[in-house]
Amino acid sequence: MIYLDHGATTPCDPSVRDAMLPFFTDKFENPSSIYSASGSVKNIVMDVRETAAALIGASREEIFFTSGGTEADNWALMGAADMYRREHAEGGHIITGSIEHPAILNTCAYLEKMGFDVTYLPVDRDGYVSVSDLESSIRPDTCLVSIMLANNEVGTIEPIKELAKTAHDKNVLFHTDAVQAFAQIPINVEELGIDMLSASAHKFYGPKGIGLFYVKKGISMGSFIHGGAQERGRRAGTENVPGIVGLGAAMKLASENMEKYASHEAELRDHMIERILNEIPGTHLNGPEKNRLPGNVSISFDGLESESLVIGLDFRGIMASAGSACSAGSAEPSHVLTAMGRSNAEAKSTVRFSIGRGNTIDEIDEAVDAVKAIAENMRKR
Ligand SMILES: Cc1ncc(COP(=O)(O)O)c(C=O)c1O
Repeated sequence: MIYLDHGATTPCDPSVRDAMLPFFTDKFENPSSIYSASGSVKNIVMDVRETAAALIGASREEIFFTSGGTEADNWALMGAADMYRREHAEGGHIITGSIEHPAILNTCAYLEKMGFDVTYLPVDRDGYVSVSDLESSIRPDTCLVSIMLANNEVGTIEPIKELAKTAHDKNVLFHTDAVQAFAQIPINVEELGIDMLSASAHKFYGPKGIGLFYVKKGISMGSFIHGGAQERGRRAGTENVPGIVGLGAAMKLASENMEKYASHEAELRDHMIERILNEIPGTHLNGPEKNRLPGNVSISFDGLESESLVIGLDFRGIMASAGSACSAGSAEPSHVLTAMGRSNAEAKSTVRFSIGRGNTIDEIDEAVDAVKAIAENMRKR
């Protein structure tokens, strides 16, 4: 089997799993208890907070553990909306991008029903949000700008520093969904000017169901889940300790090897793109050539249905996706590709291969040979 769908999820690294295991059994105590055994569990949770903070140039009081990227995205948007409403007693204005993940877009749709106005910024053919579009969209009642750090379908890395500065110049908070980029490319919240950030462990060889939300000190985000005093009273519920430990181990592994993993993936990515574009007629790369996630290869195949390509690949033991995991099975063309100016037919002829740190050049060659043969067969029919 050749797994080329790391944008959907990654396998838990064996060292991450091993780090987690004792926290299901021997070290099962509740970190909030006061006996000494739970003290060591509490310390581990604190260490992971420290690791996360160090990875993005934050401090540990700015890190909150969540159930994943979706929860962190919900917290950012709902929290900013709540802050605005507390002050103004009415809905304000939120700006986001048109190629965001459903975790952002559907939360925005909910907030629209709750009386907020949302502007969805367009993108260019490569998926970039324009700084001047953002600047001209900010209004006196804008309470949040939320733009993803890197796109999950086409890999485009957005100009976050410029976008955040534009928001700050008008005193507006800036959130980024960094789920696809976190622990894979360097991120420094101070340097980039990020006020809030979402991340998720299962995208970088950690377990599913655990993520984090970074909130810059001084921002008075309210509680998101109400209940006990966990996460300094802002996200109640007994901590997912094994998950948090797994997140910590995955962050350490990723940050110690970031350069190595990213350059390996980028080398395979560029090789795959070059071979597909040169050897398979009627193929086009989506997203920019260089400024893209190290493992992302998004290709449109003229006149071919991506679902059939993906099924053909599956028969040969190769796993890739038509669009993203979140839109799989949907009859609708990808909102990302149509926002990038592709026709519905082009959008429905797109396959995303997402390469991981464990893939080899031989696997990439085998996948390219397979997709080439499948495309030829489909075109003969
Ligand atoms: C850009 C982006 N944001 C948010 C999410 C949701 O993260 P999670 O699966 O941890 O809820 C994903 C997952 O695919 C994603 O790619």
